[in-house]
Amino acid sequence: MATFTLPQNSKITGKGTVHKADGAKNVKSFKVYRYDPDSGKNPRYDTFEIDLDECGPMILDALIKMKSEQDPSLTFRRSCREGICGSCSMNINGTNGLACTTAIEDCKGEIRITPLPHMDVIKDLVPDFTHFYAQYSSIQPWLKTVSTTPSGKERLQSPDDRAKLDGLYECILCACCSSSCPSYWWNSDKFLGPAILLQAYRWLADSRDEYTGERLDELEDPFRLYRCHTIMNCANVCPKGLSPAKAIAETKKMLAERAM
Ligand code: SF4
Ligand code: SF4
Ligand code: FES
Repeated sequence: MATFTLPQNSKITGKGTVHKADGAKNVKSFKVYRYDPDSGKNPRYDTFEIDLDECGPMILDALIKMKSEQDPSLTFRRSCREGICGSCSMNINGTNGLACTTAIEDCKGEIRITPLPHMDVIKDLVPDFTHFYAQYSSIQPWLKTVSTTPSGKERLQSPDDRAKLDGLYECILCACCSSSCPSYWWNSDKFLGPAILLQAYRWLADSRDEYTGERLDELEDPFRLYRCHTIMNCANVCPKGLSPAKAIAETKKMLAERAM
């Protein structure tokens, strides 16, 4: 299980604010990481007391209530609120996950919420995904072909070939896996990390793609692929139940078979 490590630009020394839920009978306490680089101040934890009788069931509901009623400056990402967009990934009580699909009642004690570990923080719970997206772009995540496109038709795929993309196409690029991977923490400048490697394999596994050899050439590198040491944090935290570690193992197998 991934444990929390402070984001790279963090040292929590600031004095936090406590937001009380006066008069509430069913109170849950949240400690939320706050950081505003423009203020010049160190990060801090603020405490928010939430009346659960007046709040939806998910962590995201609690965050929206904090922002609407207690501190409008609290900053976090969200969009779909149903585990589809990947925006609300964060660390909840030491484990990466989606705020919109994590139930408050499943979190014991005071709930500590921080940004995804080992990523630079833009503000509060918003990590900087610039490097992550640049790595995604580097694997050229689109169908690449040399053959002529059938005129007026789609490139067809048999049901069996389509089924090979199950467990891959569902990835929502939330980065819960990459930011829980120790190899990615220490080598994210060169190691692509589990999310991007799962995406890379998604195109290797696609029967319609005609750049398999070139894609494997790009991955055959001591850092880009082979920094994965099968620690499995990635599969343990994926909110979509995917296994980047398995995709990485399949990629290594393709490289080994090609070398034979
Ligand atoms: S299996 Fe590989 S990619 Fe997944 S957490 Fe472990 S080292 Fe990282
Ligand atoms: S593999 Fe899972 S944890 Fe990793 S980015 Fe995709 S959906 Fe998120
Ligand atoms: S808000 Fe879209 S995944 Fe949580």
